[in-house]
Amino acid sequence: MSDNEGGEEYLFKVVIIGDSAVGKSNLLSRYTRNEFNAHSKATIGVEFQTQSMEIDGKEVKAQIWDTAGQERFRAVTSAYYRGAVGALVVYDITRGSTFDNVGRWLDELNAHSETAVARMLVGNKRDLESIRAVSVEEGRSLAESEGLFFMETSALDSTNVKTAFEMVIREIYSNISRKQLNSDTYKAELTVKRVSLVKNGNDGAKQATMLSCCSS
Ligand code: GTP
Ligand code: MG
Repeated sequence: MSDNEGGEEYLFKVVIIGDSAVGKSNLLSRYTRNEFNAHSKATIGVEFQTQSMEIDGKEVKAQIWDTAGQERFRAVTSAYYRGAVGALVVYDITRGSTFDNVGRWLDELNAHSETAVARMLVGNKRDLESIRAVSVEEGRSLAESEGLFFMETSALDSTNVKTAFEMVIREIYSNISRKQLNSDTYKAELTVKRVSLVKNGNDGAKQATMLSCCSS
């Protein structure tokens, strides 16, 4: 019997964005299923996976969305970002062009988010040190100037993958707990702002709170 029995659980929407082939889908499969595919195909449309973690004895679920980096394969953009409270903006440390495009991804994210979003810049493929094109320092300084967390990862050898996702999820959680999640006023306010209380399909005992807003 878990501490959380009968309690609330939290469901946060997190999006992964960045150019095609930077490794978004492999970061997601590494985090949620511990799988890596050396021959993965370009994503078409949108997919998501759910992964749970425990924070303060509470079950926190992240619903992590992955879409195509290629423009022509992308589904309706506004729907992809709707309700997101966290984002990983990914580039490939071996391809400078993917780093140069980070600004565009951030602009798109900002244009579509209605609320404060916990954001992390992720330099992926750090196992490919020998053909690195973007230095750690360049990554870190861009992240600092944009006010993002920063981490280099490898979906191939697993380095920092879990850490990166969990850092974003913890940040979202701390953003909302600062607002006294348990105060009735705040809950009422959340409801007004279109936060849906979703009953779990199989288990009516628990409720998932889908936070689609946490503006300051
Ligand atoms: P789109 O779906 O087109 O936007 O691409 P994506 O960002 O989802 O890239 P994907 O995860 O499909 O990975 C693209 C290629 O990079 C695949 O061949 C992966 O095997 C490879 N790859 C992904 N992550 C890593 C990594 O950390 N290291 C190395 N060496 N290769 C990686
Ligand atoms: Mg993909």
